[in-house]
Amino acid sequence: MAEREPPDTKNIIQMQGVSKRFGEVVALDDVDFHLRRNEIMAVAGDNGAGKSTLIKCLAGAHQPDEGQILINGSEVSLNSPREAKQLGIETTFQDLAVAGNLTVAQNIFLGRERMHGPDSLFGILNKTKMRVRARELLQDLDIDVSVDAEVANLSGGERQLVSISRTLLSDPEIVILDEPTSALSVEGAERVLHLIQKMKQGGISIILISHNLDYVREASDRIHVLHQGQSAGVIEKENVQRDDIVNRMIAGMPEDEQAHVVTS
Ligand SMILES: Nc1ncnc2c1ncn2[C@@H]1O[C@H](COP(=O)(O)OP(=O)(O)OP(=O)(O)O)[C@@H](O)[C@H]1O
Ligand SMILES: [Mg+2]
Repeated sequence: MAEREPPDTKNIIQMQGVSKRFGEVVALDDVDFHLRRNEIMAVAGDNGAGKSTLIKCLAGAHQPDEGQILINGSEVSLNSPREAKQLGIETTFQDLAVAGNLTVAQNIFLGRERMHGPDSLFGILNKTKMRVRARELLQDLDIDVSVDAEVANLSGGERQLVSISRTLLSDPEIVILDEPTSALSVEGAERVLHLIQKMKQGGISIILISHNLDYVREASDRIHVLHQGQSAGVIEKENVQRDDIVNRMIAGMPEDEQAHVVTS
């Protein structure tokens, strides 16, 4: 009898043979994707390569048609965003969800407002508590934005910082960021990248999707490239070359790697 494999302590997420179709479109085709504990893994790929679909499967927004997802070595089924959150996975989606007419503190607590009293019976919002907690959170992250500012009056970069800091409220193990630097100035993007490093220092494991290959190379420990719904391989930071990423994005996995794929 084969010996039982020890539980996987290296990888916090393992996706094995994951496929997802939308009608005729194969958005993900037999993808293996591994996230190591406390690493920053970038996902690169051209438009339509399947990046958002991959992370939506992890965020509980989509369910794969085939394949398994393991978190901390145990197989899970993520049937809703709520289930993903309960397993410690927080996501900021590509189409940024911040409400412009609310303040920074209100945005951070949107959907999980703190109430007065032990059981929220009377539904009275505890605004003071939320403001204090939001201020602490932003201070911890070196984010210099007032909790009372209306989000509509913030710059794109500041909005992005608020949106990311929101994910940290529940003390997650895994944070997924879909295009957090798109449409940002150089300075705005640098602030977001700084925040991502800070999250890593705090012990979080991070998936970063970005079209900007310079940011990807600067910020990540490894890069997983997708090409037309298939894995085009994983590049370690020390081996990363821009041309290699671009070639994989355009042409998929190099032939000499196809026989022995290593993703973990
Ligand atoms: N809800 C959906 N219904 C139908 N097709 C979809 C849906 N979501 C994604 N697709 C298709 O699946 C493929 C992968 O899309 P996905 O959004 O994952 O790509 P992406 O790599 O995130 O692209 P981008 O860089 O443009 O954000 C595309 O062909 C897209 O049109
Ligand atoms: Mg996308």
